Amino acid sequence: MKITMVGTGYVGLVTGSCFAEVGIDVTCVDIDQQKIENLKKGILPIYEPGLEEMVKRNHEKERLNFSTELSKNLDGVDVVFGAVGTPPDEDGSADLKYVLGVAHEVGQNMKDYLLMVTKSTVPVGTAEKVRTAIQEELDKRGVNIPFDVASNPEFLKEGAAVDDFLKPDRIVVGLDSDKAKNIMEKLYKPFTMNGHPVIFMDIVSAEMTKYAANSMLATKISFMNDIANLCEIVGADVNSVRKGIGSDRRIGPYFIYPGTGYGGSCFPKDVKALIMTADKNGYDMEVLKAVENVNERQKSVLFGKAMNYFDGNLKGKTFAIWGLAFKPQTDDMREAPSLVIIKKLLAAGAKVKAYDPVAIKETRRIMGDAIQLIDDQYETLIDADGLFVVTEWPEFKFPSLKIIDKLLKGKVVFDGRNIYNPEDMTAFGFDYFGIGRNAKRK
Ligand SMILES: NC(=O)c1ccc[n+]([C@@H]2O[C@H](COP(=O)([O-])OP(=O)(O)OC[C@H]3O[C@@H](n4cnc5c(N)ncnc54)[C@H](O)[C@@H]3O)[C@@H](O)[C@H]2O)c1
Repeated sequence: MKITMVGTGYVGLVTGSCFAEVGIDVTCVDIDQQKIENLKKGILPIYEPGLEEMVKRNHEKERLNFSTELSKNLDGVDVVFGAVGTPPDEDGSADLKYVLGVAHEVGQNMKDYLLMVTKSTVPVGTAEKVRTAIQEELDKRGVNIPFDVASNPEFLKEGAAVDDFLKPDRIVVGLDSDKAKNIMEKLYKPFTMNGHPVIFMDIVSAEMTKYAANSMLATKISFMNDIANLCEIVGADVNSVRKGIGSDRRIGPYFIYPGTGYGGSCFPKDVKALIMTADKNGYDMEVLKAVENVNERQKSVLFGKAMNYFDGNLKGKTFAIWGLAFKPQTDDMREAPSLVIIKKLLAAGAKVKAYDPVAIKETRRIMGDAIQLIDDQYETLIDADGLFVVTEWPEFKFPSLKIIDKLLKGKVVFDGRNIYNPEDMTAFGFDYFGIGRNAKRK
């Protein structure tokens, strides 16, 4: 089989490489010339465990090719995947200009039947817009070429994207023709053979499934952050509460960890987009609006604790920050809570010295010289008045408390991920503040 992946970002690059890994002939196309030139040389635009080796291996075997020209990569292709970005519009709706731009380009250049599959996260009704855009171009050309459209939303998680794609819980495919179903069955056979199910459904339901999944996960996080904040007020420990509820199989242990709010390129924009889809259809998504509000508030909780601890005055103080990426195992800084915390600290007149195992370059691109970025987690502590832990990278979980004690000038730790044991911290003489734990008061 031969496929063309349009958009070589997180989703397109991971998906394209994984399809190549199971023997499919893949061309990844992107309009970003630099990105494509770099990929040809084995330089990846993102950090994702296992991806670099897979890209290099399949590129060498010529199963994975890179190009900037979609028009030259449509002949003899069974499936064209659209994996371009769908950033939020001004009102929070998903901006479809890239998705529809690709559809127009396909319609302008296709010569034979192909299946146009949307992998980007797109609102209900987008597949029909894609179909119309392609047909419009065929009509302009005065040609009659059959084609199908399908929706195949992607559920990979950044930080575990390769593994998620190769071993998915499920593959969701929305389509409305037998021919399209046969093609998708063949394409995903290597995965179904290994026990990973494909769930076929109508196109609108597939589009809705992706937003419903992300909104449910975001809801779990905001719900737990609300519970954590209340735990603090009433003197309960959210860690015990989490274990208590997570052992109920109807709730489950996943996604019920409180923290500094969800971030990344998907949850914030997808929750917004679903709220907008509902608004446009005259329905009020009250739960999701609350989910968003709680999340915005949560991003400031750690900063609030510092303000409280230092009696409302952070001017001239220096803070160490461990963890910048919105979650571990990625360098993605989109909507990262760390950025909100840093901006608030700077606005309050504090200085910031930060470390992240992989997101330093990306943070420098965003923040410039506004903060000091340091390649060693312990060096950030020198002369700092306090430590913020914002991302739960494994290397932060068991640090040397002796070294922290020696280097950190101010003996206070604000743990946004509850990765430390409050008793251990107190035993070393630190004032310790987690999220939703019976916080030590000053
Ligand atoms: N990142 C995730 O974890 C994730 C997971 C599941 C679904 N999604 C969804 O998948 C889609 C893509 O997300 P992403 O994170 O990969 O985005 P991204 O920004 O990392 O990549 C998008 C790429 O598309 C390219 N592009 C834009 N217009 C193009 C065109 N006309 N032709 C060729 N290339 C073009 C851009 O240059 C960019 O490289 C979004 O809808 C997103 O919501 C993302």
